[in-house]
Amino acid sequence: MSFDLVFFGGTGDLTWRKLMPALFQAFRHGKLPGGARILAVARDEQSDDQYRDWLRERFKEVEGAKRPSQEEFERFAALVFYRRMDLSQAEHYGHLKQWLAERPEEPADTVVFYLATSPHLFTQICEQLGAAGLNHERVRVVLEKPLGHDLKSAQQINRVVRSVFDEAQAFRIDHYLGKPSVQNLMALRFGNAFFEPLWRRESIANIQITLAESLGVGTRGPFYDGTGALRDMIQNHALQLLTMLAMEPPASNDADAIRDEKLKVLRALKPFTPETVARDVVRGQYRAGNADGKAVPAYLDEGKVPADSRTETFVALRTEIQNWRWAGVPFYLRTGKRLAARDAQIVVNFRQVPHAIFPGKPRANRLIIKLQPEDGLELQLLAAKGSAHGETLAPVSLDLDFDKAFAANRVGAYERLLLDAIAGRLNLFVRSDEQEQAWRWVEPILDAWAREEEGPRPYTAGSWGPAAASALVAREGFTWPEEV
Ligand code: BG6
Repeated sequence: MSFDLVFFGGTGDLTWRKLMPALFQAFRHGKLPGGARILAVARDEQSDDQYRDWLRERFKEVEGAKRPSQEEFERFAALVFYRRMDLSQAEHYGHLKQWLAERPEEPADTVVFYLATSPHLFTQICEQLGAAGLNHERVRVVLEKPLGHDLKSAQQINRVVRSVFDEAQAFRIDHYLGKPSVQNLMALRFGNAFFEPLWRRESIANIQITLAESLGVGTRGPFYDGTGALRDMIQNHALQLLTMLAMEPPASNDADAIRDEKLKVLRALKPFTPETVARDVVRGQYRAGNADGKAVPAYLDEGKVPADSRTETFVALRTEIQNWRWAGVPFYLRTGKRLAARDAQIVVNFRQVPHAIFPGKPRANRLIIKLQPEDGLELQLLAAKGSAHGETLAPVSLDLDFDKAFAANRVGAYERLLLDAIAGRLNLFVRSDEQEQAWRWVEPILDAWAREEEGPRPYTAGSWGPAAASALVAREGFTWPEEV
């Protein structure tokens, strides 16, 4: 199957940091069919060769084993082309159309437009693509997050996208859905019989989702300051993980069967009020500290961040899902920059046994779904340790390392999602109604914060965030995983 993949924002960070390296991996794994073209467009005037040289330099930053050799890069670069384009000019879309038609062989089976630009250009690009007739059934459009800034702007983008494309042509990306561990979550829940009967309020005490980063905002200050952790990580990545954890078994593995179930979870999330935001949501902002053994500056001293910024770099919150399966079970979501470690994981804390017959403090079972840096599953059980004074219990772990077990088949998130978009598989992409519902749920938090006098709580870079985040779980007798 032949395809043309067009990157709008062809010289942007996302393109060279994530998309091109992911495509290179797909190329290396033999997944790009013959006749594939990768077409980058951006504002600068440059030739194909200049663009390839620029890309070659950028690829030097790709980590070790994933970096191409000289010879591999040359073969990959032969698929890459560049054109200058002013995205506000209708005639430039005409040129793009012509360029797409100029193929050595027949027209591509599929044309994928990847919008790796600032989201304020999305509506303009989609409208212009439509006006140029570049919305026929062989076309797909990939929209990178953030999609909008709030419910209204997300609805506006979705309205335009829908007026130009069918929903089945729109691929809203959330790269967390492409992570192998997230697909494993589906496999764990719906490919095995023994978790399902336990996957409910009767057996589960609470669920904790942590998406922690040790990095600061680096050079992304201007973008990040207008965004903050709630919009950057909770509205999308953390909520998507929550839907995958909590949804009812879908009737099939079809995209809409899955997305219908995910939407129901989002609709069942307990709405926030100003009182519950004050009680159940903690926001923080990092102060100077240490990360990976080095002194690092405060958020307010990062490049291009206003000195009086109230943007949060940390959020921890408690929510509930109001349905029969989950009523009353706390779901804790937490994310932050400049935390003690890069660590993304989901911890399912099971309830204690109803009656203890062994001495010592009773402990409960835990299932840890590790997203990164490792990708795996750990089930913590209790076993008899044996002692002269009678049986005592000790925790033991069933520790599955998927990176090792499936090393040959591991595919990175962007590689997986790019290949899915090319093949037209929508399962791991977000539908517009899901996304709007997620905005609807986070908006009361944004509104309450805007009215609050105090800003985010300070925390030291390299810590696990403000103490109030520990208090949030401690209130109900729980702890975060690093405090166990
Ligand atoms: C992006 C956010 O969506 O996800 C970034 O905009 C964040 O701020 C990144 O750093 C984290 O992704 P990953 O895959 O490195 O956990």
